[in-house]
Amino acid sequence: MGLPKRRLGNSGVDITTIGLGTWAIGGGDNPYGWGPQDDQSSIETIHKAIDLGINWLDTAKGYGHGHSEEIVGRALKGKRDQMLVATKCGVLWQEDGSDIYVHLKADSIKSECESSLKRLQTDHIDLYQVHWPNDEDLEEAWGAIADLIKEGKVRFAGASNFNVDQLKLVQAIHPVTSLQPPYSMLERGIEAEILPYCKENDIGVIAYSPMQAGLLTGKMTAERVADMPEDDWRRNSPHFQGQGLEANLALVEKLQEIAQAKGYTAAHLALAWVLRAPVVTGAIAGARNPAQIEETAKAGDWALSGEEIQLISDLLTARDKEIE
Ligand SMILES: NC(=O)c1ccc[n+]([C@@H]2O[C@H](COP(=O)([O-])OP(=O)(O)OC[C@H]3O[C@@H](n4cnc5c(N)ncnc54)[C@H](OP(=O)(O)O)[C@@H]3O)[C@@H](O)[C@H]2O)c1
Repeated sequence: MGLPKRRLGNSGVDITTIGLGTWAIGGGDNPYGWGPQDDQSSIETIHKAIDLGINWLDTAKGYGHGHSEEIVGRALKGKRDQMLVATKCGVLWQEDGSDIYVHLKADSIKSECESSLKRLQTDHIDLYQVHWPNDEDLEEAWGAIADLIKEGKVRFAGASNFNVDQLKLVQAIHPVTSLQPPYSMLERGIEAEILPYCKENDIGVIAYSPMQAGLLTGKMTAERVADMPEDDWRRNSPHFQGQGLEANLALVEKLQEIAQAKGYTAAHLALAWVLRAPVVTGAIAGARNPAQIEETAKAGDWALSGEEIQLISDLLTARDKEIE
């Protein structure tokens, strides 16, 4: 039967509702890293995703200064036709590696594309996404991606972290195949305007951090957070700190009960919740070892009932009040 699939926007391509996220695979040793990561384990994770029938993955030049893309390229040697590759441009590192910045000039996007193709060891990128928008050069960046599509180096144009006005602006230049926004039980900001807009305009939605960077898996504890390596960015996230962390861990305990009653885990529930909305094409499930993606791949099979959705909505309202 295979994993469930949904059509990605205007692409004509069906993607599995669970895709593999490879940010953590970029490793640590940078301000947006995830602590130490073993490359062999990363490669095995990508191979496991293929074996499970997952047909797409998401990476970015920004993840570990290109290291995530390099690992993807190594893992997909001889297997490129089994995975659609989505990567991103427009986020560059300062020369001293201390921080990132958004740069969307056309020449820069085109040269980023060349270096991503080399790291990925491929002649085309399936979905090329502008990682973060800026006010000055968004149209220029989109024009550059349209050129790359004409040249056959890129198949589809994707946006990430765009608002509705930004989507409208670039749509006039070239169709937007997908939007990659943050979306999880703890980050619901896209529900009011962005999701309806994507639905009306046939823009696929691939949701990032659906398990809130591991917080909603049921395997995060206050002790684990306290012991996180210095180069794990999550130490600095408000979701992982103080009262927010306390309320989130208490919420996850209750989510676990709902999941266990159906023979699933909290990680499955986090992903199934994001996928309950038909406008969401896929959830990007980050994983750093094969066991993680083996678990989360099963989430696509769980269609939440109306009763479960209501129960979760009540829990989220209570949690939001607690941290107000
Ligand atoms: N466009 C953007 O600006 C943007 C921003 C963020 C993410 N993304 C994309 O979205 C992807 C997913 O987001 P994310 O990686 O931030 O968060 P996520 O998918 O919500 O969580 C992934 C993390 O959760 C933990 N985990 C995963 N499966 C697990 C399991 N079965 N049991 C226990 N723990 C598990 C792992 O971390 P530990 O084992 O370390 O706990 C893993 O790295 C990224 O990889 C990236 O491709 C894009």
